[in-house]
Amino acid sequence: MSDFEVILYDKVDGVAYITLNRPKALNAYSIKMRDELYEVLGAIKDDSDVDVVILKAAGEKAFCAGADLTEFLSAPPPVFARQARFERDVWGRFLSVKQPIIVAMHGYVLGSGIEMSLCCDIRLATDDAKFGLPEPGLGIIPAAGGSQTLPRTIGQAAALEILLSGRWIDAKEALKLKLVNRLVPRASLYPEAEKLARKIQSFDKKVIRAIKQSVWRGMDMPLNAGLALESRLAKQLKEA
Ligand code: COA
Repeated sequence: MSDFEVILYDKVDGVAYITLNRPKALNAYSIKMRDELYEVLGAIKDDSDVDVVILKAAGEKAFCAGADLTEFLSAPPPVFARQARFERDVWGRFLSVKQPIIVAMHGYVLGSGIEMSLCCDIRLATDDAKFGLPEPGLGIIPAAGGSQTLPRTIGQAAALEILLSGRWIDAKEALKLKLVNRLVPRASLYPEAEKLARKIQSFDKKVIRAIKQSVWRGMDMPLNAGLALESRLAKQLKEA
């Protein structure tokens, strides 16, 4: 895999680590970051040596402060900058990864930062994390999936309030809303993510991937179709 500039990639004993690595810009999501995430996720999804993925970010202050505003709201005009984002469906790429993705978040988690986490399977956050979708204040709508993934995760009413008002929420509220699975002190964030990854890794990888597929695909189906999908996956596992 080529050398990356704004992410780090590492693989240790079946766990893949992706680190957003623009700490001076609070890990703002740039076009370069989009391209590198697209590439690394593409490699991971076809890598049979990867059982679990951990996504995290460098620096003390932020997991990700949203879209890179220097690209987004200056020349080229926003419409082109946004168009460039659509050209590579990094969010679809996230969802195509068969292995579970654990995201470990700290500090500011804004805009695309939240949206990225909503494409992951298990969200851990530090107790000082702050979450916000500032898009309406910038005159844009979320376009990294947030208007779809947020209501699916926390329900329509809570999602609408956050999306329409641009109100930021603290870690406690994020937990209450089930935007995150668990809060941990900063020093325990990566050890906890690691522990969880190793626990998941202790199970049969075919079973783990089938569970992930059944839940994500099933969420978009009526219950009957979801139950049929679950039966098919169970049968496939039995025959494998
Ligand atoms: N895009 C590009 N650069 C960003 C950025 C972003 N979204 N968010 C922060 N940065 C940069 C700042 O420009 C600053 O760079 P500098 O040191 O070269 O001046 C550096 O990161 C540190 O940010 P700063 O604003 O000084 O930190 P702070 O602690 O005072 O404030 C925030 C933190 C997150 C409240 C503030 O940076 C902010 O509001 N960022 C924009 C959030 C946003 O609207 N994102 C878009 C969502 S769609």
